Amino acid sequence: MNFELTEQQAAIQETARNFAQTELQPGVLERDANSEFPVDLYKKMGDLGLIGLPYPKEVGGQGADYLSYVLAVEEVSKVDASVGISYSVSTSLYGGSIMNSDAPVEKKNEFLAPVLSGQHFGSFGLTEPNAGSDAGGCVTVAERDGDEYILNGMKCFNTNGPLADYTAVYALTEPEKKAKGLSCFVVKKGTPGFSVGKVEDKMGIRSAQVSEMILENVRVPAENMIVPSGDGFKLAMKTLDGGRIGVAAQGLGIAEGAFEIAKEYLKTREQFGKPLYRNQYLAFKMAELEMEIDAAKLMLYKAATDKQEGRSYSIPAAKAKYLCTEAAMHVTTEAVQMLGGNGYMKGYHVERMMRDAKITQIYEGTNEIQKLVVSGAIFR
Ligand code: CAA
Repeated sequence: MNFELTEQQAAIQETARNFAQTELQPGVLERDANSEFPVDLYKKMGDLGLIGLPYPKEVGGQGADYLSYVLAVEEVSKVDASVGISYSVSTSLYGGSIMNSDAPVEKKNEFLAPVLSGQHFGSFGLTEPNAGSDAGGCVTVAERDGDEYILNGMKCFNTNGPLADYTAVYALTEPEKKAKGLSCFVVKKGTPGFSVGKVEDKMGIRSAQVSEMILENVRVPAENMIVPSGDGFKLAMKTLDGGRIGVAAQGLGIAEGAFEIAKEYLKTREQFGKPLYRNQYLAFKMAELEMEIDAAKLMLYKAATDKQEGRSYSIPAAKAKYLCTEAAMHVTTEAVQMLGGNGYMKGYHVERMMRDAKITQIYEGTNEIQKLVVSGAIFR
């Protein structure tokens, strides 16, 4: 096993880190307060080649590996987890739906290249009001009419919903078969009948744009159906395996960002005549948190490497998602406590990071679902 980053991976990590610190950091508190997404900065990330990292050049990607992408999401999320999730949803969930589909390569290029360039956003329409953890319970339908399908239904909690130019919409082509009658369709912004519903007002990742998506007699060409009828559920599950690696990277970044802030604070803040870190209770706390972060990171990098090298990655991805996002919640909560009154105030960032961390334990499969996946494999 080689634990060294390659030159290319280290260079991508450095690019993402510099971008996050110089471009994303300055406005992060304001964007959190105003729930505004930095579209222009996201497009700059695209110009730097960060968005399409793990996809081949023939479909508009950068031809880098999955670990490079993970490193980039991690660096971005250390500073701004809202941009981190938008990036991950466009790349892993929208991108994964297309890449894992049966669409011919020229169609993959048509649907992916604009999103992988970073100049357009992608979204993933699976969840519905009565189909969250039970993803197979979707009721959105797609009915064939000549060379088109007509889609009707509603999706919710769509990250990037209001921004998305392209959405992968999971819909039933054979409703009587339930999850076994699911397919997936690419629906473009502006298609008549396809509209943004309620835009969510959230506890954390406040700058990320999350909404309902309404489908009322939305007509799409039959060629936008990217897997045969019945293969949609497996496409969604496979895609979520990759998405969970992205959320793990986001969680890890949040944990590391809060850890760094706590470390600087403990070194510089003096109480009772000495810096805080000279209290062994706090120094030991930091040792525990660093070990938790390192263990989660190893699991994540293993999951990314398994995916890259063609090994089965569903279980490693579930473990990484669980460990990294639990670390995010734990480290941010401890960071707020260690910073005391200052930690509770907006200016020190850790309260925002604690709010941002919470959703990572919930979306792309709650952490209880990850335990279901992992325990299922233990006893299979
Ligand atoms: N890859 C490929 N196929 C898979 C698979 C995977 N990872 N997992 C399951 N399947 C297949 C099974 O092999 C099975 O195939 P057969 O019918 O041929 O046997 C089929 O799918 C059904 O499998 P299950 O019986 O295990 O399915 P289930 O209905 O019991 O559900 C579940 C399993 C793990 C609970 C699944 O529903 C799940 O992951 N739920 C969570 C959904 C989720 O993560 N939603 C997040 C949405 S995205 C989001 O959060 C929004 C955002 O914008 C960030």
